This record gives sequence, C-alpha cells and structure tokens, in this order.
Amino acid sequence: MTDKLIIFDTTLRDGEQSPGASMTRSEKMRVAKALEKMKVDVIEAGFPVASPGDFEAVKSIAGIIQDSVVCGLARTGARDIDAAAEALKPARSARIHTFIATSPIHMERKLKMQPDDVIDAAVQAVKRARRYTADVEFSPEDAGRSELDFLCRIIEVVITAGATTINIPDTVGYSIPAQFGQTIRNIMERVPNSDKAVFSVHCHNDLGLAVANSLSAVVNGARQVECTINGLGERAGNAALEEIVMAVHTRKDYFQCETNLDTTEIVNCSKLVSNVTGFPVQPNKAVVGANAFAHEAGIHQDGVIKSRETYEIMRAEDVGWSNNRLVLGKHSGRNAFRTRLKEIGFEFDSEVELNNAFKKFKDLADKKHEIYDEDLQTIVTDNLHDNGEQIKLVSLKVVTETGETPMAELILSIDGREEPSRSEGDGPVDAVFKAIEAIVSSGCELQLFSVNNITGGTDSQGEVTVRVNKNGHVVNGRGSDTDIVTASAKAYINAINRVHSFAEKIHPQV
Ligand code: KIV
Ligand code: ZN
Repeated sequence: MTDKLIIFDTTLRDGEQSPGASMTRSEKMRVAKALEKMKVDVIEAGFPVASPGDFEAVKSIAGIIQDSVVCGLARTGARDIDAAAEALKPARSARIHTFIATSPIHMERKLKMQPDDVIDAAVQAVKRARRYTADVEFSPEDAGRSELDFLCRIIEVVITAGATTINIPDTVGYSIPAQFGQTIRNIMERVPNSDKAVFSVHCHNDLGLAVANSLSAVVNGARQVECTINGLGERAGNAALEEIVMAVHTRKDYFQCETNLDTTEIVNCSKLVSNVTGFPVQPNKAVVGANAFAHEAGIHQDGVIKSRETYEIMRAEDVGWSNNRLVLGKHSGRNAFRTRLKEIGFEFDSEVELNNAFKKFKDLADKKHEIYDEDLQTIVTDNLHDNGEQIKLVSLKVVTETGETPMAELILSIDGREEPSRSEGDGPVDAVFKAIEAIVSSGCELQLFSVNNITGGTDSQGEVTVRVNKNGHVVNGRGSDTDIVTASAKAYINAINRVHSFAEKIHPQV
C-alpha cells in the first residue's frame, strides 16, 4: 500500500520572509485560495504574533479556507501560542506550529538557555497549544546542526505532551541528502513513541540541496514535507513545492507514497506567487520555468515528435501548462472575463471590483490584441493595488530623443489630492523616479530594478520589479504595462506604498 505524503505549504509564512516578498492581506488571501484549490493539505498562513498585519492575515485566511488545514506559527511563549490560537479561531481545521532552537550554537548564543530549560519551554508550549487544538506541530529549530541525542530527548517529551507532527528543520541548509535521510531514520527508530506522530521535514536551500534533502527524508520515513511555491523563502529559499510533488508523482515506483495535490494547478499557483511578490521565475526552473518543457536541440525535437516520452518524463498539461494559452480578446465580454479568472483561481468580491478590472482588461485589449492568463493575473493584481494604495499614478509623459536629456512630467494622486512634478534624468526611468521623489521624498534607497516580458512578442506587457530599502526594511514593488516606462513608474509607486503600509515584524528565527 502506498502512503500519503502530506504537503505543508509555507509560502505565506517562510516564503514571505524572503527580503521584499511581503504580501498584503488581500494578496495572501488570493494565494491561500489558490493553494486550497490545488489541494494543499496544510497552509501555514503566517506568524500571528509578528505584527497586527500578520495576525489579521492569518485570521482572514482562517475564515475563508474550508478544505485545507490552516496553520499559524508561534514561538514557545504563552503570548505567541495565544495569538496563534486567537487568529486561527475562524478556521475549520486549525494547527498551531510551535518551535524552539535546539542546536548548541542557537541555545547558547541566541536563546542563552540551558538545554533542560529549552525542553521545558517546548513541553509547556505544546501543552498550551493542545488546549486550543488537537493538531499541534513542534519544530526543533536548526535540527540540522543539533545533537541527535538531544533531538531524540526533546521529541519524545513533546510527543508525550501532545505534539502530533514533529517537523525536523534544516534551518540553515547545512545538511547533505544521505546524512539528513539517515538522521530522520535514526530519530524515528530511537524515539520510543515516534509512531504517535507524523514526521515532517523543512529544508532550506543554502547549498541548493533543499529538495534533495526533503526527498531523502521521505525515502527514510518522513510523511510531511514543508515547502513553498517557486522555492520562495529566507535567503536561498525553501524546498520548492512543485519539484517535491512532481518528483514523488513521477517516481511513485521509488518513493512509495503519493500526494493529494491537483498538479494541474501548479503553474497557476507559480505565476500567481511570482506576480504578487514580484519575484520572477527563472526560465530554466524545473517544472514551472518557461523553458521547462521547451526542446531546442534538433535531435530532441525529432525524438519528441516521434514519441513524446523519448525526452519528456512529465506531461506539460499535468502541471498546468496549456497549449491553448490565448484566452480572451477585445471582443470578449464581462462573463467570459469573470469565468476565465474564476478558472485560474480568482473571484471578485464585488461588482465594482469586477467592473474596474474589466475596464482595465478592455484598455489592455485595445493595445494588445491577444490576452493571456498572465495578463489577467496582472490586471487583477493591479486592480487590488489601485484599491488599497495611498499614492497613485494619474498621468505620465516622458520625452526622450537621441542626444537630449530625458524628461518626465507626471501627476500623482496622494489620498485623492493631485500633485504635478517634472524632472530630468540620466534615462527615462531615472527621470520618472526623480519626478516621483520630488513629490513624495520617500527616503527609500533603490536596490533592484528588473524588467521582464509577461508573455511573448513585442506587444507583451512589461513587468517591472523594483526593490527598495528604507531603514533596513526591504520591500518589492511591481507594475505592469505595455509601456515599460509606465510599468516602472507603477512599480516604484507600489514599492513606496508598501514601505508605508508594512509594520515592522518580529522575525520568527529571533
Ligand atoms: O527554518 C526554520 O527552522 C523554520 C522554523 C520556524 C520551522 O522556519
Ligand atoms: Zn524555515
């Protein structure tokens, strides 16, 4: 009999810890809905005590998700556990995930706690969490660098205290696949009550081994994997959900377990997360990269034409790439627009929201005749930005000419009040950013500027991502338009709006 592998997605918690990947509450709700549609078993929705924004986001997600377990992260203190429980109250199925570091370096230098006190804190936290829910997960943080004997000790007592999932995190991405797999096997064999809990892993990608380590753990008995869409996450990221799921799916013969996932939703989820975070997916990324199923070499193309299986181990359709990507055009009506968006996982909250988005769709269809799913995703994201943003772009004029200094003239609306500005710059984008700064004086330092085309062709919308830093607080902004200078202005304004709206958060590993 094949076992079930539980897929625990932490895009909205660990993924969001990626510098610049902060999402608004409505963006998080959109991602959570897409994860539920893909039949993810557990959605880690956030770290409720970290900030009022995180608390509200977890609460809102708990209120809309029916089919997946909604999880909230908490350190071992009572305040953290109580905040997680409170935020999860509306959930149909709730899990509290509590953690404390167990490696000598973390206990001595970060926590400044004795090992016995760490064990005591873990047990108290699990017992407190069990007052609120029967579904409690415990993680010994930095398990990858913890001593095996100590790990076995703490795991045994937290299971006795009521933990139902034991998650072994390789917090700093230090482990090597064969060794990590063996650690999981050793723990499960040595802990006397290990059969009372599901064993899980949570691997970071500092050495590019997060997926390999997770899969090695699965071979050795882990039955839950924590992962993120597109491998988003702290530093080099977490294990990529799409790679774990497709490895297990494609090599059932080897892994002897299966997931519940609807794999045809993978590409949609990947595009959505890329879209809302402004983190583009590299073209050669496994499963979800634009080239993942593209054959360039003549010998490969010839083979695939004769028999697909000669060079393809997965079907593009099975992960949600569709050949018929053209979905709508300028004659499409509101119903077709609404229906297609529903198919790719988005539903409007009100007729007003639908009407605004539909107007944007018509404007885009006038400039660009073929509208793809990716264009629809950006329309929806832009629409959500428009609704919540304090600063908006009203109009923009840019003049560039060979040998002349570029000039930008624009009008911004700030809380409904219109302000004009004009500036020269080294290039058109520089002129635009200077004109914006002349009005807002944001104090932000620009750290990254990148342009991608959303679909193919010269009429494609350009998607611009900017990353800004204000007093050590890093946020990404994104904007899209068929005119990349306008897209740049929108991205910069989006970043400035975000800097102002994200409260400082407690970092979970502190
Ligand atoms: O990487 C890590 O250790 C974590 C824990 C909170 C599980 O994210
Ligand atoms: Zn992590």
